[in-house]
Amino acid sequence: MGRRAPIDAPPRVARFDPFAGAPRLNSARRVGIRPGTELIHPLAATGARPLRFHVDGLPEGIAVDEEGTLRGRAPAAAGTHLLEVTATNELGEASATVELVVGEQLCLTPPLGWNSWNLYGPDVGAELIVRTAEAMVATGLRDLGYQYVNIDDHWHAERRAPDGSPLANARTFPDGIAPVAARVHELGLKLGIYSDAAHLTCGNCYGGYGYERTDAATYAAWGVDLLKYDYCYAPASAAEAEARYGAMGRALRETDRSIVLSVCEWGFRSPWRWAPAIGGSTWRTTPDIYDTFSWSPFGVRHIAWRTLRQADHAGPGRWNDPDMLLVGNHGRGRSSGVLRTPNQLRAPLRGRRLWRFRGLTDHQAHSHVTLWAMLAAPLLASHDLGASSELDLALLANPEVLAVDQDPLGASARRLPAPRGWWHLVKPLRDGGFALSATNLRRGERTSTLRLADVVAAGHSVTPTSGRWTVRDAWAMHDLGELDQLDVELPGHGSALLVCHPA
Ligand code: GLA
Repeated sequence: MGRRAPIDAPPRVARFDPFAGAPRLNSARRVGIRPGTELIHPLAATGARPLRFHVDGLPEGIAVDEEGTLRGRAPAAAGTHLLEVTATNELGEASATVELVVGEQLCLTPPLGWNSWNLYGPDVGAELIVRTAEAMVATGLRDLGYQYVNIDDHWHAERRAPDGSPLANARTFPDGIAPVAARVHELGLKLGIYSDAAHLTCGNCYGGYGYERTDAATYAAWGVDLLKYDYCYAPASAAEAEARYGAMGRALRETDRSIVLSVCEWGFRSPWRWAPAIGGSTWRTTPDIYDTFSWSPFGVRHIAWRTLRQADHAGPGRWNDPDMLLVGNHGRGRSSGVLRTPNQLRAPLRGRRLWRFRGLTDHQAHSHVTLWAMLAAPLLASHDLGASSELDLALLANPEVLAVDQDPLGASARRLPAPRGWWHLVKPLRDGGFALSATNLRRGERTSTLRLADVVAAGHSVTPTSGRWTVRDAWAMHDLGELDQLDVELPGHGSALLVCHPA
């Protein structure tokens, strides 16, 4: 029996200040863009301000602005451009190579951002979206690589315009979507929108089925950068889903923007098998996440377990999406929080609400982010960014944990053999190292031994070496030294995340 962790012992995570210290470049090291389309890409540097940016190797038509955002139009020809990026401040300099890959594949690393659904449900509007984008800048999250501000369901007017084009709700988006997109772009960020591959969305607004080309062209004209395409009210068959998502994928590719297609049919029709071919960059692996760590189908642990089973399907431009992060919601979410019963289960219960989702504990939230980073998952916060607590920000804004998620190799973690009640996961990294995580799935404090030789023995594309490794605690942001094994002592539902390189 393990001892119970003292409930006031917080997760051991560094408090990283994005506005202090020498520069550090956090931008994704590989960026995909379609030929001839608009590029808005923040180089995502943290450190004391002011920061100055210099980029060598920029193709014609693209420049870096004072804030460190690459702006312009991608070359018309497919190909890879190596950008040598330098950020400087009074304390030092940081350099990195960013590959700009002009071609049809987007999201060469998993998208980082925010989505309105979990906390706000149907209460979206222009003011919320602009406020969130501004908070993404003010909190430093943009400078850590977060980019997408995604409007979920309920942005719609009651019906389409007489010519069939989509219209936003005139009360909540008084000037439409275009000025919201313009403000988001001005901040160096990207705007996402939501629709559904049927006549209605899950929230009973009008859907996109039969209007794919009109909708895609209008989204492009508005300046939209991502479309989450849902599957309520659509036929069950996988072939039909593939056809409907395919129609939207084609329509998006016919526009002159790089618009990411995020497939949301909850993993029921093995989207990992067909979504990449129809232009989907991410696909949900499960039904909606709720603000609970439980093993129930909508809990963090169950969703992580289901997503781990699809590890082989993840890679650059093609990501398993285990749904939004719950960090910072603390059970308050309108769509995933207090006294909420998942829609999918409500009907047979005749409207009764049986589950009480009070939110994650600090250690559960810490494990949630650890697991999502190991899974190379899209990291979409879903809380009120402006009201983030110090711990919420420490969990979302750790540059070393984000670098594990964003590693350009794009491998998802896989499970290693581990004692009962533990997950030991390994995620190979492009530089020949690997990330290793341990999650204590039980309530009490326990210790587990991680033997680095086991990682090599299990294969998983990790290169065997002499057997000694330099090990770094990514959450604490400090070196643990040269080791061949280590004991991790974790509170109930806690996690550790280590980054290892051959010594
Ligand atoms: C579905 C999706 C959610 C959200 C809602 C909106 O349930 O899975 O993520 O988009 O619809 O109605």
